[in-house]
Amino acid sequence: MNKAKRRTVIAGNWKMNKTPSETTALINEMKPLVKDADCDVVLCVPFVDIAAAIEASKGSNIRIGAENVHFKESGAYTGEVSAKMLKECGVEYVVIGHSERRQYFGETDQTVNLRTLAALNGGLKAIVCVGETLEQRELGYTETLLKYQTKMALTNVTAEQLKNVIIAYEPVWAIGTGVTATAEQADEGNGFVRSAIEEVYGKDVAETVTVQYGGSMNAKNADELLSKVNVDGGLIGGASLKAEDFSIIVKAANK
Ligand code: PGA
Repeated sequence: MNKAKRRTVIAGNWKMNKTPSETTALINEMKPLVKDADCDVVLCVPFVDIAAAIEASKGSNIRIGAENVHFKESGAYTGEVSAKMLKECGVEYVVIGHSERRQYFGETDQTVNLRTLAALNGGLKAIVCVGETLEQRELGYTETLLKYQTKMALTNVTAEQLKNVIIAYEPVWAIGTGVTATAEQADEGNGFVRSAIEEVYGKDVAETVTVQYGGSMNAKNADELLSKVNVDGGLIGGASLKAEDFSIIVKAANK
């Protein structure tokens, strides 16, 4: 396994936090702290914060992402936002299939796949989330489920398009709970994702795909999590809302 073949990506997922003015303030605080990053630094923000985030991050190494995208290019889909709209705003990444969307907003493996295709066809990079619940883990389904979710999300995604896909392994029981997966569990989960990719695209391709860990990653545990061979970065919720903490995670990824 060769970690050097992949980009390390540290992405913040702000969820439903921060107004536009708070976005400007937080990014201005973060910019000097992450400017020497040796990894890709991304902030995924609410739709209404995108303009402020793009403006504040101009000239810096911070890239901006959205937290969802619709699967059609345009049409009668009240309240939805297309890849083309995001792209024109300067958005480069989009989080797809986060467990909160699966849990509260009826997101399914099929809609995750459609959104992933729409993002890629629209020129965005997709950060696709997969992860098991505690119940599924305890029943012994973690590997089966992670492989299934990964393969479903990537249906009809070509090897060429896969270059613009990041998979984030986020055990549902570790999200926003303060309970982090151990570094071994994170490495194992990410390994299951990578072997699912290998089963479809082959080993050479699988070794180049960035697989992040997410779920209560913070300034204290990032070092250990990111040292694992299959952990190519993090998708960070709570700790991405604090400039200092987020920058410590970015620094941990530089090592
Ligand atoms: P958390 O969220 O870091 O607050 O656990 C991670 C995520 O949901 O992406």
